[in-house]
Amino acid sequence: MSAIRKLLPAERGQYRAHLLRLDKADRYARFTGTVSDEVIAQHCESLDWTRTTLVGLFDRGELRGAVELCFDRLLWPGAAELAISVEKGFQGRGVGSTLVRRSLSIAANRGIRQVHLMCLSDNTRMRALSRRFGGTMERDGGEFAITFDLPRPSQVSLALEAFEDGAGAVNAVLDGLPALLKAA
Ligand SMILES: CC(C)(COP(=O)(O)OP(=O)(O)OC[C@H]1O[C@@H](n2cnc3c(N)ncnc32)[C@H](O)[C@@H]1OP(=O)(O)O)[C@@H](O)C(=O)NCCC(=O)NCCS
Repeated sequence: MSAIRKLLPAERGQYRAHLLRLDKADRYARFTGTVSDEVIAQHCESLDWTRTTLVGLFDRGELRGAVELCFDRLLWPGAAELAISVEKGFQGRGVGSTLVRRSLSIAANRGIRQVHLMCLSDNTRMRALSRRFGGTMERDGGEFAITFDLPRPSQVSLALEAFEDGAGAVNAVLDGLPALLKAA
């Protein structure tokens, strides 16, 4: 059983554990550079949840993929930044695409008109995924700056997010049910 849903601030430990499980190459691709375990721990500890939305894939209670969407209405009005990670055993199954679709929709529903993402130029999978969602790419040295232009929110997009939040909550309970039953 798996669930795709927004994370709660109390789940920052799950996010840290997920990022620490990424292998060396994926960690490098996620942060577009080398980062230590301590930097990852610090990154998770200093998340500002008033400006950050995390959407993740939970599989049997463990976070296996996540999108970090950061907004700042003062510094970048109308824009947001996205970063994504999916653990090796869960890649190539559409998880990344689902997480990106969900986060672009969440961003559009908050009035964001552009979402930016940096990826290494050899990250073919991320580039393929971005193309699927209409991202435009500009080469910047050894990296690509990817921009997604978003539509305005609609009744349908707002209703869909509310529906997916509800479905995520139900799936989270079902996902945790075996552990609950075992403990009972
Ligand atoms: C990039 C990443 C998020 C993709 O996640 P994923 O769950 O594998 O994504 P999907 O399964 O939805 O596939 C994405 C695309 O890659 C393509 N793909 C799958 N396997 C591939 C492979 N071995 N080589 C190249 N492309 C591949 C898929 O066909 C798909 O393209 P399409 O949309 O045109 O069909 C994941 O590989 C990852 O976490 N990488 C490390 C972190 C990273 O690079 N983050 C990006 C910078 S923030």
